[in-house]
Amino acid sequence: MAGVRPVVHGVWEADGAKKTFTHALDPGLLAAHIPREGRVIDYGCGYGRLTAHLTELGYPHVTGVDPSGAMIERGLRERPGLALRHQPGLPLPEADGSFDAALLFAVLNCVPDDRSQRAVVAELARVVRPGGTMYVSEVPLQRDARNVARYEQHSQSSPHAPYGTFTTPEGGLFRHHTPAHLRALLTGSGFTPVEERTGTAPTLGGHQATRLQLVARRS
Ligand SMILES: C[S@@+](CC[C@H](N)C(=O)[O-])C[C@H]1O[C@@H](n2cnc3c(N)ncnc32)[C@H](O)[C@@H]1O
Repeated sequence: MAGVRPVVHGVWEADGAKKTFTHALDPGLLAAHIPREGRVIDYGCGYGRLTAHLTELGYPHVTGVDPSGAMIERGLRERPGLALRHQPGLPLPEADGSFDAALLFAVLNCVPDDRSQRAVVAELARVVRPGGTMYVSEVPLQRDARNVARYEQHSQSSPHAPYGTFTTPEGGLFRHHTPAHLRALLTGSGFTPVEERTGTAPTLGGHQATRLQLVARRS
């Protein structure tokens, strides 16, 4: 994992850093899989919404990291003292197995290419100890006409992009995945999926979307 610069779309340093993020933690999944005393990395933490939430829930060892300086600046402005760190590239400075769990919430949706996705998950596999937990929340491929139209439009203009990739009017580049793709990403880096839950989540654009949460155990 020598010196990988993540592909971070410029929107996360601009308008994206003003958005309110919406994927809710599932309290049942959290309690069942991540012990209170666990060391947790909230990777792609944005402005630290979930880092703060876990801290409020009584998790004392949570660190949020994000490649967007604007996100971290906002997080520290809104919640001074929260454990947030700007992390422009990979690898993370932490030693192997430094964490008991990683949160990866609505991040892979913002990392459209397979290679960058694999780099993120592989690095989290390195810093989560064997037996530790990965808790992922994503918007999978949607079936409604609005989403299908934007997937198809993007496929036509960028035929090599994975199906499910689309742009937003603000200039964001996103990707919705099949559940099989998400499972394969996890297993490809040594995480075994152990529990999944589906639900709904509001999107950044104010629509409702299906949401998929996966919990996986590091082998
Ligand atoms: C939709 S926000 C979610 C933030 C946070 N996880 C939450 O749920 O509140 C997506 C975050 O992913 C970050 N991001 C974008 N590309 C990334 C990459 N290649 N690696 C890690 N994080 C990335 C963005 O800076 C942004 O903070």
